[in-house]
Amino acid sequence: MKGRFITVEGIEGAGKTTCMDSIKELLTKSNIGYVSTREPGGTLLAEKIRNLLLDVDEDPPVALTELLLIFAARAQHIQKVIIPALSDGLWVLCDRFTDATFAYQGGGRGMEDQLIAELEKITQQALRPDMTFYLDLSPELGLARAKKRGNLDRFEKEELEFFNNVRRAYLRLAEKNRDRYITIDAKNTEDRVAKEIKEILIDRFSLK
Ligand code: TMP
Repeated sequence: MKGRFITVEGIEGAGKTTCMDSIKELLTKSNIGYVSTREPGGTLLAEKIRNLLLDVDEDPPVALTELLLIFAARAQHIQKVIIPALSDGLWVLCDRFTDATFAYQGGGRGMEDQLIAELEKITQQALRPDMTFYLDLSPELGLARAKKRGNLDRFEKEELEFFNNVRRAYLRLAEKNRDRYITIDAKNTEDRVAKEIKEILIDRFSLK
């Protein structure tokens, strides 16, 4: 069977980790080989770039530096991990991908969608996710959950307004990419979300 590229998106505290875990459990049960990875990150160099992006520092990146660092990490990740895995017939399960750039750098930071789309084209050529689970949650709830986890990174320290803009951008992306987007109500219990995700995957990809 051909490798599939599945991404998981949502604001902080939406439950991406639980979602990733339930997909991994299903793929293992269905005897499907997969690679589980994340962005920014997924390779040694890309993880170093991730730290640069998330660290709270006295010289924070301006919006364009942030955007270019994200695509630099992505180029490394795509060429070293994603493409080789898909070429081997493995599924790639990725915690965030370019939709996060449209949501955070586009919606949150106000960078032009057209610029992000240009970088997407240069970095990815035709590579796009086959399916994207978007866990939708109000930023009030999400941030409250994220705060309980401890130290906040540079993004988590943003104001509520930033996350409202991120969420609006995600909802626009879901509308625009109905063929691959699955919007999940992340207010529901973890068990219910996990069950919903598994049912959708089983149905869409005829898993056993
Ligand atoms: P997370 O992996 O814990 O969700 O943290 C990654 C952070 O990076 C999160 O706050 C969103 C942010 N991010 C962007 O701003 N743009 C991107 O393209 C990606 C992949 C992540």
